[in-house]
Amino acid sequence: MNKHKVAILVSGTGSNAVNIIQYFEKSSVAEVVLVISNKADALAVRKAQNKDVKAVVFNNESFKKSGVVLNYLRSVAIDFIILAGFLMKVPSDIIHAYPNKIVNLHPSLLPKYGGKGMYGKRVHSAVIEAQECESGISIHFVNEEYDEGVIIFQAKVSVEKGDSVDVLALKIQQLEHRFFPKVIEQVINKSL
Ligand code: GRF
Repeated sequence: MNKHKVAILVSGTGSNAVNIIQYFEKSSVAEVVLVISNKADALAVRKAQNKDVKAVVFNNESFKKSGVVLNYLRSVAIDFIILAGFLMKVPSDIIHAYPNKIVNLHPSLLPKYGGKGMYGKRVHSAVIEAQECESGISIHFVNEEYDEGVIIFQAKVSVEKGDSVDVLALKIQQLEHRFFPKVIEQVINKSL
């Protein structure tokens, strides 16, 4: 059977994108064939190229124009889309074309600390400010609202008194790297 073709959408540094690419190098189920960024200077673009994965940049205008990115995804026969630090809203034509086939990773225990503008260190600052004793990651399907799709998986980590934003960010990143590729694989397997 042919492997499922996965595209990863990114805007930033791409540590998760690289981790996913590496995980699926050994998989018989799926392979990452494409990384798409809305930012030409995203580190993730260079990292993908270093892993011999094709990386393409579409600016925000192209993303917003109906059909442009969707046609490209179809032209390379993409089956699954993973958002790994992608900061734009996914256009609705893509959401409708890929029902339950677009998965996002969020660095908090949704529904807490999600929504527009809640990304990266802003999330961890808010968690520390609120004196939460735990935080974590949420992996969810993508719908037309930021961070509101059905939750597939969550994992928790404790927030200790005195944890800085950087310390919490590192704890969360460790969870992300440990679980995200495996959960993606499970989602793809279930949809077969
Ligand atoms: C991750 O924390 C993820 O939860 C969020 O964006 C970040 C991406 O980090 N959606 P990286 O670019 O993969 O290092």
